Amino acid sequence: MTEKRAQFATRLGVIATTVGSAVGLGNIWRFPYEAGVHGGGAFLLIDLFFIFIIGVPVVCAEFIIGRHTGANVRGAFKMLAPGKPWGIVSYLGILASILILSFYSVVAGWTLEYIGQSLSDFSGIHSPEGLHRQFDIFAQSNWRPAMWTVIFLLCNYLILSRGVQKGIEKMSNIMMPMLFVILIAFSINSLTMPSAAEGLSFLFKPDFSKVTPSVLIGGMGQAFFSLSLGLGCLITYSSYFKRETPLVKTAFITAGLDTLVALLAGIIIFPAVFTFGEEPAAGPKLVFEILPSIFSNLPGGMIWSTLFFVLLFLASLTSTISMSEISIAYFQEEFGMSRRKATWLNIGIAMVLGIICALSFGMLSDFTICGLTVFNLFDYLSSNILLPVGGLIISIFVGWVLDRAVVQRELVTVNPGRATIICVRLIVFCLRYLAPLCIAAVFIFGLGLF
Ligand code: TRP
Repeated sequence: MTEKRAQFATRLGVIATTVGSAVGLGNIWRFPYEAGVHGGGAFLLIDLFFIFIIGVPVVCAEFIIGRHTGANVRGAFKMLAPGKPWGIVSYLGILASILILSFYSVVAGWTLEYIGQSLSDFSGIHSPEGLHRQFDIFAQSNWRPAMWTVIFLLCNYLILSRGVQKGIEKMSNIMMPMLFVILIAFSINSLTMPSAAEGLSFLFKPDFSKVTPSVLIGGMGQAFFSLSLGLGCLITYSSYFKRETPLVKTAFITAGLDTLVALLAGIIIFPAVFTFGEEPAAGPKLVFEILPSIFSNLPGGMIWSTLFFVLLFLASLTSTISMSEISIAYFQEEFGMSRRKATWLNIGIAMVLGIICALSFGMLSDFTICGLTVFNLFDYLSSNILLPVGGLIISIFVGWVLDRAVVQRELVTVNPGRATIICVRLIVFCLRYLAPLCIAAVFIFGLGLF
């Protein structure tokens, strides 16, 4: 590693890329669908607990490792704990990132199809039933979803092969603010719908009788997924941070904006679900059935719809880029591959697995493992199991193994105020005790191990 490593150019760049990684389909597609399946309010509460009480400290832990070592995930653990088993987290991370990239690209491919459909005004179909049928016909058609998955991954290749600063940072700076504005506009629109109150109460009113083990597991998985946490993605990104970047503040801003986007998505979707008399527990296709119905009832719907799916596509791209960066940095720095070769390897594997995921809505829909299609299996396994396991290992490592002086040096800014010192103490407490205990408890109860 003699060559100078890349760094993000500006403070805005750091925030926009980190938020760009966090904000994506996880907020706008996965959050509403998971909340819908798991009964709304109670799921949201568990998700929020895991984001702010457990997630933020673990985000800080990843940042500490990344900036301190300035290396890829594998390299970081080699430096900090040579010959020790902690590095297993890097292999888990590389595996999980490729699984996530595969199914995520399928859904990102749907956004491309929907850009096309928006431009053709959904072939003049505007009834909710018609739009549902349209989605089903598309998803079951085999070749189209697979084709879009491949095209989406090629877009990734184009950006990734250009390197960190030029590609990732510029795009995030422009599109993240735009996405916020359009989400706010749509949520205002949804709040004026006839069943807005019903939708909001579904989302915000927790019904604790609905807290089952699967809600616990699902809420924890969603928090990790949404924060891009647990597989070293943030270790890799923070290795490009400068010394001056305040880690705790960046972690809070990321979690705050990430949650805001998920909440806005919920505020857009659920009033519409109840207004159109739909089923909140429709699963992965929920958002793709509801959104077109919302747009087709708006004046200038075609333009709104196109704009929305373009932004969703871009938001997915900033997230998949961050996933790919994990294995690309690993292949490059540990095997001395060229950036181009490392990128091809990453994208190539994801293409093969992604096509299988795409077909699991069509010709492979009857092929199940443990009752889950390949798409659902990849999602469940990576989000609900691998990410929290990664988070568990990272929090124990930073809380108990890593030199306390390193933790202090990375977290505390120059001339810390009282608040900063207390905050750092709380974070360390959480990494040592709270995070490992809560994650382990959810596994034990949620997976029925107890
Ligand atoms: N957080 C992103 C989203 O919500 C997805 C994502 C990007 C991710 N990088 C990740 C998830 C790393 C887990 C790990 O869309």
